[in-house]
Amino acid sequence: MTELTHPLATVPQDELVARAEADPLRPRFHFVSPAGWLNDPNGISQWNGTYHLFYQYNPEGAFHHRIQWGHATSTDLVTWTDQPVALEPSAGPDAEGCWSGVLVNDGGTPTLVYSGRFEGRELPCVAVGSPDLLSWTKDTGNPVIAAPPSGVEITAYRDHCVWREGTKWRQLVGSGIRHRGGTAFLYESVDLRQWDYIGPLFIGDASQGDPSDTDWTGTMWECVDLFRAGQGSLGAEPSDGSPDVLVFSAWDDGDTRHPLYWTGRYAGDSFEPAALHRLDYGGRFFYAPQSFKDESGRRVMFGWMQEGRSDTAMVEAGWSGVMSLPRVTTLADDGTLEFAPAPEVSKLRRDHVSVPGQVLVGAGTPVNTGVSGNQLDLELDLQLAPGAMLRLSLLGSADGVEETVIELSRAADGHHPGNLRLDRTRSSLDPAVDVEEKSGPLPMTDGRVRLRVLVDRSAVEIFANGKPLTARVYPTLGGERVTLAATQSTVRLLSFDAWTMAGVFDETRSLLPERK
Ligand code: FRU
Repeated sequence: MTELTHPLATVPQDELVARAEADPLRPRFHFVSPAGWLNDPNGISQWNGTYHLFYQYNPEGAFHHRIQWGHATSTDLVTWTDQPVALEPSAGPDAEGCWSGVLVNDGGTPTLVYSGRFEGRELPCVAVGSPDLLSWTKDTGNPVIAAPPSGVEITAYRDHCVWREGTKWRQLVGSGIRHRGGTAFLYESVDLRQWDYIGPLFIGDASQGDPSDTDWTGTMWECVDLFRAGQGSLGAEPSDGSPDVLVFSAWDDGDTRHPLYWTGRYAGDSFEPAALHRLDYGGRFFYAPQSFKDESGRRVMFGWMQEGRSDTAMVEAGWSGVMSLPRVTTLADDGTLEFAPAPEVSKLRRDHVSVPGQVLVGAGTPVNTGVSGNQLDLELDLQLAPGAMLRLSLLGSADGVEETVIELSRAADGHHPGNLRLDRTRSSLDPAVDVEEKSGPLPMTDGRVRLRVLVDRSAVEIFANGKPLTARVYPTLGGERVTLAATQSTVRLLSFDAWTMAGVFDETRSLLPERK
């Protein structure tokens, strides 16, 4: 490793792993890097049965600098084996970082398409892997695209979505056109090395909506991901009307805003949008998602759960960034995407507790559930009367001072969509952490809500009727209480099952893992 002189490298490198592991807020059943910094999932795929998760990694410390591609493998999507770093910056077009990208199967050769960073900007690069995907050789022709399209002023240009269509490869590179909006530039190639520029697939309009809106499309689109939801593949005529989906992370001048997606139709060389949707109500806490189709045909997505604490606190902690649990994405009846944790996650469940079904009257008095812990999987089936609100409190301290509260509410008229809200205002006594509330519409039929909550110390993933809300919380009092209350009107608790979740890393990990 080179360059130990970065101003933020204040924690000695040989101490990073110990620091990270000692942090009580570090998740235990989510994937985290051995220590140091983690951001986007990259090259996620299944190859000869084995799942591969690459990720943006800085083993030098918990700050974003000189990014490498960390790598881990799994046979079940939940327990991971650290593998050697796959890509590291070297003299040339990626000297300042190996930024985000994807893995494709080039006639049996594992091939990475990623953004090489050099002189403050990024260009597309390629590397090929050994059959076990553990050693990677960069193409001598890198960068494979010499410059962004000319004639337009761009805000940034990076990240890749690459797919096979007929006899050719197609590629999108995320970008933005100044004074217009985010975009994805479309290219075509026969060999992944020589690319012909086709044009912008579709250009967003940054003047639409308020920049503070949770669905503002930003001035640049990071990590674009185009796929067919449902049956069929990109470019083919859908037999059943399945939409195409263009996922992107809205970015603005260094600010990572939120993941959004357009549903619509990709045909020919462009994308005709039908509707824009929020991908996750937690916004920046589920950023830069990437998806892939696994060998069983499921579309699986991972996202980067950013931190909500200060840069200094991250550096001190010795680690930063959590990979979400794998989510299976399906198409809902209303044409939007629905998400659920991959069923494999249930493998980690221990110590089942079943809370008796009951009627919670709208008095607001919390019912102690007997469930407690900070590594939990909760599954609830609920029936809300019109106007009712359920409050599920997590990570509650014994003195009641700290708690993180999930609220589900049904409209008083019973017809409009309900609301899912995460109230973090009392989640931490630490005045420096982000406690902004997160919320979004909750579709429901007749007040029925299926709620799944995964709590992993500072990581919380909520799925309510398939709509995700992901966030981070930083309790200081070590609270583990789980309580339930109904306000305004009646909530019937039809079932409530809870499990403690086993950790996925038993052994001390190495910052720079060796070949197993
Ligand atoms: C998204 C992102 C990508 C970039 C990478 C750098 O979080 O900014 O656009 O490739 O992270 O680490």
